Amino acid sequence: MILDIVQYGEPVLRKKCVSVSQVDSELEKLVADMIETMEDAEGIGLAAPQIGVDIRLAVVDVSPDPESVSFFKVDGEDAEMADHMPLVFINPELELSGPKESESEGCLSIQEVRAKVNRPTVVKARLPQLDGSVKVIESDGLLARAIQHEVDHLNGILFTDRLSTTGKTRLRKKLKELANTEWEKR
Ligand code: NI
Repeated sequence: MILDIVQYGEPVLRKKCVSVSQVDSELEKLVADMIETMEDAEGIGLAAPQIGVDIRLAVVDVSPDPESVSFFKVDGEDAEMADHMPLVFINPELELSGPKESESEGCLSIQEVRAKVNRPTVVKARLPQLDGSVKVIESDGLLARAIQHEVDHLNGILFTDRLSTTGKTRLRKKLKELANTEWEKR
């Protein structure tokens, strides 16, 4: 089922999400619906607060663009990205490393806005899975960026919070407009 994506200005996007306490059929259905919603919107990631649910859950899929990373490891071994996408994030834990790089980002909850965000280039993510196993993935490039962006959502942080002062100034008016438009009416 395709879900409505909450838009900028809605309070749920600013919540610090709570940990997922139980994996049950309801959660499995939510994950399936989030993946379908992400694909329908042609996004590379979607976090639970973006569909109005304040729990630590997100999905990411950058497999249409395998050249966007220089390495991809699962549990310490080189792996094919396509075999592991979409990635499901339940109570994810991240370790960030590498130099910072500034690249363009957008968000399904902040339409028509793109801007450069400075972030560490390498991510190691510990991801408990629906079946109770734990997957440790390591990567860089677009995937590392998407993972950080989605985990920020779980802490009520949007990419526009991380812009340079100049970037924030440039977008101030646009964001104010978006915040004042009820998203159901867009
Ligand atoms: Ni986003």
